[in-house]
Amino acid sequence: HPLALGVIVGSLRADSVTRRLANELVALAPADFHPRFIEIGDLPLYNEDLDIEVAAEPPAEWARFRSEVRDSDAILFVTPEYNRSVPAPLKNAIDVGSAPHDQNAFDGLPAAIVSASPGRMGAFGANHHLRQSLVFLDMPTMQQPELYLGGSSGLFDGEGALADPAVTELLTRYMERFASWASRHRRIAA
Ligand code: FNR
Repeated sequence: HPLALGVIVGSLRADSVTRRLANELVALAPADFHPRFIEIGDLPLYNEDLDIEVAAEPPAEWARFRSEVRDSDAILFVTPEYNRSVPAPLKNAIDVGSAPHDQNAFDGLPAAIVSASPGRMGAFGANHHLRQSLVFLDMPTMQQPELYLGGSSGLFDGEGALADPAVTELLTRYMERFASWASRHRRIAA
């Protein structure tokens, strides 16, 4: 059974290591995942005023984002850490997708979180702060294996390929486990 995989990247940087990592995860994913990147860089900051009836229409970017999330069978978050937490653009995307509160687009979607940072802690703080939000969104989030990639500036070689075959193997196994998690926890159509 094919699974539409929405991939959300927490960095907006053009040359982002996190995005390159997300590209690798997608490339190594089993064939039952059909990946699509869901972009967050154009989302206006969440403001409840724009979601209530008096506003003619919520921003088109919000509608686009919400429908891409809704069309997914699973969500993979790949994120760096800003100030020991979730980068603001990613938190904004979570807020946009979760609102209005009775129309949470993320509701019930199986998720996994990969975090990476140039430091040693592999963006552990961002990974776990994001998990806290996913509890509230009611997303069954894969607990094991965990993936915190430290030393991210050394992940890629001069040609832009993964430098360490052990990491390639780790990412491959992670995506296999996530595919099995996602199919077991697939959202039941309302
Ligand atoms: C950072 N960075 C960072 N790194 C980390 O390990 N823990 C942290 O708390 C922070 N905080 C932080 C705040 C801000 C505002 C910036 C801009 C950066 C460094 C960050 O991990 C680094 O820039 C990564 O390279 C970001 O990933 P991309 O953009 O290469 O995907």
